Amino acid sequence: MGIVSWANSPWGQSVPLHVAWALIWVAIIAGFFFMVVHTIYVAVVSPKHKPRLSPAEVAATPERVPRHSLAARLFHWIMALSMFALLITAFLPKVGVKFDWVMYHWIAGLLLTVSVLFHIFHASFALDFWSIWPDKADLRDAKYRVMRFFGKPAPKPERFAKYPLENKLYHGAVMLAGLAVIGTGLFMLKRVDTPFFTRNPYLFSDFTWGAMYVLHGLAGVGFIALIMVHVYMGIRPEKLPITKSMIFGWMSRDFYLEEHDPRRWAVKGSAQKKRSLAASDAD
Ligand code: HEM
Repeated sequence: MGIVSWANSPWGQSVPLHVAWALIWVAIIAGFFFMVVHTIYVAVVSPKHKPRLSPAEVAATPERVPRHSLAARLFHWIMALSMFALLITAFLPKVGVKFDWVMYHWIAGLLLTVSVLFHIFHASFALDFWSIWPDKADLRDAKYRVMRFFGKPAPKPERFAKYPLENKLYHGAVMLAGLAVIGTGLFMLKRVDTPFFTRNPYLFSDFTWGAMYVLHGLAGVGFIALIMVHVYMGIRPEKLPITKSMIFGWMSRDFYLEEHDPRRWAVKGSAQKKRSLAASDAD
Protein backbone atom coordinates (compact mmCIF):
# COMPACT_ATOMS: atom_id res chain seq x y z
CA MET A 1 0.00 0.00 0.00
CA GLY A 2 1.41 3.42 -0.98
CA ILE A 3 0.74 6.49 1.11
CA VAL A 4 -0.32 8.56 -1.93
CA SER A 5 -3.06 7.99 -4.55
CA TRP A 6 -1.87 8.89 -8.03
CA ALA A 7 -3.74 9.75 -11.25
CA ASN A 8 -2.87 10.54 -14.87
CA SER A 9 -3.27 14.17 -15.97
CA PRO A 10 -4.85 14.91 -19.42
CA TRP A 11 -1.24 15.23 -20.66
CA GLY A 12 -0.34 11.74 -19.56
CA GLN A 13 1.73 12.95 -16.62
CA SER A 14 1.48 10.98 -13.38
CA VAL A 15 0.32 13.39 -10.65
CA PRO A 16 -0.40 12.92 -6.93
CA LEU A 17 -4.12 13.13 -6.15
CA HIS A 18 -4.40 12.87 -2.39
CA VAL A 19 -3.19 10.80 0.52
CA ALA A 20 -4.24 7.10 0.55
CA TRP A 21 -7.35 7.01 2.75
CA ALA A 22 -6.30 3.69 4.32
CA LEU A 23 -3.93 5.87 6.38
CA ILE A 24 -7.00 6.94 8.38
CA TRP A 25 -7.09 3.44 9.88
CA VAL A 26 -3.33 3.42 10.38
CA ALA A 27 -3.65 6.65 12.43
CA ILE A 28 -6.57 5.28 14.48
CA ILE A 29 -4.68 2.05 15.22
CA ALA A 30 -1.53 4.06 16.13
CA GLY A 31 -3.64 6.20 18.52
CA PHE A 32 -5.07 3.11 20.26
CA PHE A 33 -1.64 1.47 20.36
CA PHE A 34 -0.22 4.49 22.19
CA MET A 35 -3.09 4.39 24.71
CA VAL A 36 -2.58 0.70 25.50
CA VAL A 37 1.21 0.98 25.83
CA HIS A 38 0.93 4.11 27.98
CA THR A 39 -1.74 2.57 30.25
CA ILE A 40 0.48 -0.48 30.82
CA TYR A 41 3.52 1.76 31.43
CA VAL A 42 1.68 3.83 34.06
CA ALA A 43 0.21 0.75 35.77
CA VAL A 44 3.41 -1.30 35.87
CA VAL A 45 6.54 0.80 35.49
CA SER A 46 6.14 4.45 36.41
CA PRO A 47 6.90 5.45 40.03
CA LYS A 48 3.82 5.91 42.26
CA HIS A 49 5.12 7.81 45.28
CA LYS A 50 4.26 11.49 45.68
CA PRO A 51 7.10 13.86 46.62
CA ARG A 52 7.06 15.34 50.14
CA LEU A 53 6.13 19.01 49.99
CA SER A 54 8.46 21.59 51.50
CA PRO A 55 6.67 23.63 54.19
CA ALA A 56 8.40 26.80 52.91
CA GLU A 57 7.01 26.23 49.41
CA VAL A 58 3.56 25.45 50.80
CA ALA A 59 3.59 28.65 52.87
CA ALA A 60 4.67 30.71 49.85
CA THR A 61 2.07 29.36 47.43
CA PRO A 62 -1.58 30.41 47.15
CA GLU A 63 -4.19 27.66 47.51
CA ARG A 64 -5.28 28.17 43.91
CA VAL A 65 -2.44 28.58 41.44
CA PRO A 66 -3.48 30.47 38.28
CA ARG A 67 -2.53 28.42 35.21
CA HIS A 68 -4.49 29.55 32.13
CA SER A 69 -5.94 33.02 31.51
CA LEU A 70 -9.50 33.32 30.21
CA ALA A 71 -8.15 34.26 26.76
CA ALA A 72 -5.92 31.16 26.68
CA ARG A 73 -8.83 28.92 27.74
CA LEU A 74 -11.18 30.41 25.15
CA PHE A 75 -8.53 29.85 22.47
CA HIS A 76 -8.08 26.25 23.54
CA TRP A 77 -11.79 25.39 23.43
CA ILE A 78 -12.50 27.27 20.19
CA MET A 79 -9.56 25.49 18.60
CA ALA A 80 -10.79 22.14 19.97
CA LEU A 81 -14.27 22.78 18.53
CA SER A 82 -12.90 23.67 15.11
CA MET A 83 -10.52 20.70 15.18
CA PHE A 84 -13.32 18.18 15.87
CA ALA A 85 -15.45 19.80 13.15
CA LEU A 86 -12.52 19.54 10.72
CA LEU A 87 -11.83 15.89 11.53
CA ILE A 88 -15.50 14.90 11.31
CA THR A 89 -16.16 16.77 8.05
CA ALA A 90 -12.90 15.56 6.47
CA PHE A 91 -12.89 11.90 7.37
CA LEU A 92 -16.48 10.66 7.80
CA PRO A 93 -17.11 10.99 4.04
CA LYS A 94 -13.88 9.04 3.38
CA VAL A 95 -15.07 6.08 5.48
CA GLY A 96 -18.49 5.91 3.86
CA VAL A 97 -20.68 8.49 5.68
CA LYS A 98 -21.63 10.66 2.71
CA PHE A 99 -22.77 14.28 3.18
CA ASP A 100 -22.02 17.72 1.75
CA TRP A 101 -18.94 18.36 3.84
CA VAL A 102 -16.86 20.93 1.96
CA MET A 103 -18.56 24.14 3.15
CA TYR A 104 -18.64 23.06 6.83
CA HIS A 105 -15.03 22.02 6.47
CA TRP A 106 -13.64 25.28 5.19
CA ILE A 107 -15.71 27.32 7.67
CA ALA A 108 -14.20 25.27 10.52
CA GLY A 109 -10.81 25.69 8.79
CA LEU A 110 -11.15 29.48 8.85
CA LEU A 111 -12.15 29.35 12.53
CA LEU A 112 -9.02 27.32 13.26
CA THR A 113 -6.90 29.75 11.22
CA VAL A 114 -8.22 32.81 13.09
CA SER A 115 -7.84 31.14 16.48
CA VAL A 116 -4.26 30.06 15.70
CA LEU A 117 -3.36 33.59 14.52
CA PHE A 118 -4.78 34.90 17.79
CA HIS A 119 -2.79 32.31 19.73
CA ILE A 120 0.50 33.30 18.01
CA PHE A 121 -0.01 36.99 18.95
CA HIS A 122 -1.25 36.17 22.44
CA ALA A 123 1.63 33.75 23.16
CA SER A 124 4.22 36.18 21.74
CA PHE A 125 3.08 39.30 23.59
CA ALA A 126 0.96 38.29 26.61
CA LEU A 127 2.21 34.84 27.67
CA ASP A 128 5.68 33.54 28.46
CA PHE A 129 6.67 32.65 24.87
CA TRP A 130 9.59 30.38 25.88
CA SER A 131 7.59 28.30 28.39
CA ILE A 132 6.54 25.85 25.65
CA TRP A 133 10.00 25.20 24.13
CA PRO A 134 12.35 22.53 25.53
CA ASP A 135 15.22 23.97 27.61
CA LYS A 136 18.50 22.53 28.92
CA ALA A 137 16.95 21.32 32.20
CA ASP A 138 14.29 19.35 30.22
CA LEU A 139 16.95 17.57 28.17
CA ARG A 140 19.14 16.88 31.20
CA ASP A 141 16.17 15.47 33.17
CA ALA A 142 15.02 13.39 30.19
CA LYS A 143 18.51 11.85 30.11
CA TYR A 144 18.33 11.13 33.86
CA ARG A 145 14.90 9.53 33.48
CA VAL A 146 16.06 7.25 30.68
CA MET A 147 19.16 6.24 32.70
CA ARG A 148 17.07 5.50 35.81
CA PHE A 149 14.57 3.55 33.67
CA PHE A 150 17.43 1.27 32.57
CA GLY A 151 18.62 0.90 36.17
CA LYS A 152 21.71 3.09 35.74
CA PRO A 153 22.69 5.52 38.53
CA ALA A 154 21.52 9.08 37.81
CA PRO A 155 20.38 12.03 39.97
CA LYS A 156 16.65 12.43 40.63
CA PRO A 157 15.10 14.66 37.92
CA GLU A 158 13.72 18.03 39.03
CA ARG A 159 10.04 18.85 38.98
CA PHE A 160 8.76 20.37 35.74
CA ALA A 161 8.52 24.00 34.74
CA LYS A 162 5.03 25.03 33.50
CA TYR A 163 5.07 22.31 30.81
CA PRO A 164 6.76 18.87 30.94
CA LEU A 165 9.04 17.95 28.03
CA GLU A 166 6.45 15.58 26.54
CA ASN A 167 3.86 18.40 26.42
CA LYS A 168 6.42 20.63 24.72
CA LEU A 169 7.18 17.97 22.11
CA TYR A 170 3.46 17.40 21.57
CA HIS A 171 2.94 21.13 21.10
CA GLY A 172 5.74 21.12 18.48
CA ALA A 173 4.08 18.28 16.54
CA VAL A 174 0.64 19.97 16.68
CA MET A 175 2.21 23.25 15.61
CA LEU A 176 3.88 21.70 12.54
CA ALA A 177 0.77 19.74 11.53
CA GLY A 178 -1.41 22.82 12.20
CA LEU A 179 0.75 25.12 10.08
CA ALA A 180 0.70 22.51 7.29
CA VAL A 181 -3.12 22.14 7.21
CA ILE A 182 -3.65 25.89 7.50
CA GLY A 183 -1.01 26.84 4.91
CA THR A 184 -2.30 24.34 2.33
CA GLY A 185 -6.00 24.75 3.30
CA LEU A 186 -5.92 28.50 2.61
CA PHE A 187 -4.67 27.86 -0.96
CA MET A 188 -7.16 25.00 -1.41
CA LEU A 189 -9.97 27.51 -0.81
CA LYS A 190 -9.25 28.61 -4.42
CA ARG A 191 -10.41 25.17 -5.61
CA VAL A 192 -13.88 25.37 -4.05
CA ASP A 193 -16.79 27.84 -4.16
CA THR A 194 -16.60 30.40 -1.38
CA PRO A 195 -18.08 33.92 -1.07
CA PHE A 196 -14.56 35.41 -0.87
CA PHE A 197 -13.14 35.04 -4.37
CA THR A 198 -13.70 33.38 -7.72
CA ARG A 199 -12.76 29.75 -7.88
CA ASN A 200 -9.54 29.18 -9.86
CA PRO A 201 -8.36 25.58 -10.09
CA TYR A 202 -5.68 26.65 -12.61
CA LEU A 203 -3.76 28.72 -10.06
CA PHE A 204 -1.14 25.94 -9.82
CA SER A 205 -0.11 22.99 -11.99
CA ASP A 206 -1.84 19.65 -11.43
CA PHE A 207 1.31 18.35 -9.77
CA THR A 208 1.54 21.28 -7.33
CA TRP A 209 -2.14 21.02 -6.42
CA GLY A 210 -1.71 17.27 -5.91
CA ALA A 211 1.31 17.78 -3.67
CA MET A 212 -0.68 20.35 -1.68
CA TYR A 213 -3.63 17.95 -1.21
CA VAL A 214 -1.21 15.21 -0.15
CA LEU A 215 0.47 17.45 2.46
CA HIS A 216 -2.96 18.62 3.70
CA GLY A 217 -4.13 15.00 3.96
CA LEU A 218 -0.96 13.73 5.65
CA ALA A 219 -1.03 16.43 8.32
CA GLY A 220 -4.83 15.91 8.66
CA VAL A 221 -4.45 12.15 9.16
CA GLY A 222 -1.65 12.86 11.64
CA PHE A 223 -4.16 14.93 13.61
CA ILE A 224 -6.37 11.85 14.10
CA ALA A 225 -3.63 10.18 16.18
CA LEU A 226 -2.55 13.46 17.82
CA ILE A 227 -6.07 14.31 18.98
CA MET A 228 -6.75 10.76 20.19
CA VAL A 229 -3.61 10.91 22.33
CA HIS A 230 -4.50 14.38 23.62
CA VAL A 231 -8.05 13.41 24.64
CA TYR A 232 -6.78 10.19 26.26
CA MET A 233 -4.25 12.18 28.31
CA GLY A 234 -6.91 14.74 29.24
CA ILE A 235 -9.20 12.10 30.75
CA ARG A 236 -6.56 10.03 32.57
CA PRO A 237 -7.35 10.26 36.32
CA GLU A 238 -3.92 11.64 37.31
CA LYS A 239 -4.15 14.32 34.60
CA LEU A 240 -7.66 15.53 35.48
CA PRO A 241 -6.33 18.49 37.53
CA ILE A 242 -4.64 19.76 34.36
CA THR A 243 -7.83 19.36 32.33
CA LYS A 244 -9.84 21.12 35.05
CA SER A 245 -7.35 24.00 34.93
CA MET A 246 -8.18 24.40 31.24
CA ILE A 247 -11.82 24.91 32.31
CA PHE A 248 -11.51 26.92 35.53
CA GLY A 249 -8.07 28.51 35.00
CA TRP A 250 -6.35 27.35 38.19
CA MET A 251 -4.86 24.24 39.79
CA SER A 252 -4.55 23.28 43.46
CA ARG A 253 -1.45 24.17 45.46
CA ASP A 254 -0.71 20.49 46.19
CA PHE A 255 -0.82 19.47 42.54
CA TYR A 256 1.29 22.47 41.54
CA LEU A 257 3.99 21.72 44.14
CA GLU A 258 4.01 17.97 43.43
CA GLU A 259 4.47 18.41 39.68
CA HIS A 260 6.05 21.83 39.17
CA ASP A 261 9.16 23.53 40.46
CA PRO A 262 8.31 27.06 41.69
CA ARG A 263 11.82 28.14 40.66
CA ARG A 264 11.12 27.10 37.06
CA TRP A 265 7.49 28.25 36.96
CA ALA A 266 6.81 31.02 39.45
CA VAL A 267 3.27 31.87 40.50
CA LYS A 268 2.56 35.41 39.31
CA GLY A 269 3.13 38.38 41.64
CA SER A 270 4.59 36.43 44.53
CA ALA A 271 7.48 38.58 45.75
CA GLN A 272 6.80 37.31 49.24
CA LYS A 273 6.98 33.77 47.93
CA LYS A 274 10.36 34.33 46.27
CA ARG A 275 11.71 35.80 49.50
CA SER A 276 10.62 32.83 51.57
CA LEU A 277 12.02 30.36 48.98
CA ALA A 278 15.34 32.20 49.01
CA ALA A 279 15.29 31.95 52.80
CA SER A 280 14.60 28.19 52.64
CA ASP A 281 17.49 27.82 50.13
CA ALA A 282 19.81 29.56 52.57
CA ASP A 283 18.80 27.17 55.40
C1 HEM B 1 -7.18 19.29 11.48
C2 HEM B 1 -7.35 20.07 10.48
C3 HEM B 1 -7.75 19.60 9.08
C4 HEM B 1 -7.98 18.34 8.61
C5 HEM B 1 -7.94 17.03 9.39
C6 HEM B 1 -8.31 18.46 7.21
C7 HEM B 1 -8.56 17.40 6.37
C8 HEM B 1 -8.90 17.51 5.03
C9 HEM B 1 -9.03 16.42 4.12
C10 HEM B 1 -8.80 14.95 4.46
C11 HEM B 1 -9.40 16.92 2.93
C12 HEM B 1 -9.63 16.15 1.63
C13 HEM B 1 -8.37 16.31 0.84
C14 HEM B 1 -8.34 15.48 -0.40
O1 HEM B 1 -9.40 15.19 -0.96
O2 HEM B 1 -7.22 15.15 -0.78
C15 HEM B 1 -9.50 18.35 3.04
C16 HEM B 1 -9.85 19.22 2.05
C17 HEM B 1 -9.92 20.60 2.19
N1 HEM B 1 -9.62 21.33 3.33
FE1 HEM B 1 -8.97 20.56 5.09
N2 HEM B 1 -8.32 19.78 6.87
C18 HEM B 1 -7.95 20.52 7.98
C19 HEM B 1 -7.80 21.88 8.05
C20 HEM B 1 -8.20 22.78 7.06
C21 HEM B 1 -8.07 24.20 7.14
C22 HEM B 1 -7.44 24.94 8.33
C23 HEM B 1 -8.60 24.73 5.99
C24 HEM B 1 -8.75 26.15 5.56
C25 HEM B 1 -8.18 27.15 6.09
C26 HEM B 1 -9.04 23.61 5.17
C27 HEM B 1 -9.60 23.71 3.93
C28 HEM B 1 -9.82 22.66 3.07
C29 HEM B 1 -10.27 22.82 1.70
C30 HEM B 1 -10.63 24.11 1.00
C31 HEM B 1 -10.32 21.53 1.14
C32 HEM B 1 -10.63 21.17 -0.28
C33 HEM B 1 -11.94 20.58 -0.51
C34 HEM B 1 -12.03 20.13 -1.95
O3 HEM B 1 -11.11 20.29 -2.73
O4 HEM B 1 -13.09 19.59 -2.25
N3 HEM B 1 -8.77 22.44 5.85
N4 HEM B 1 -9.19 18.68 4.36
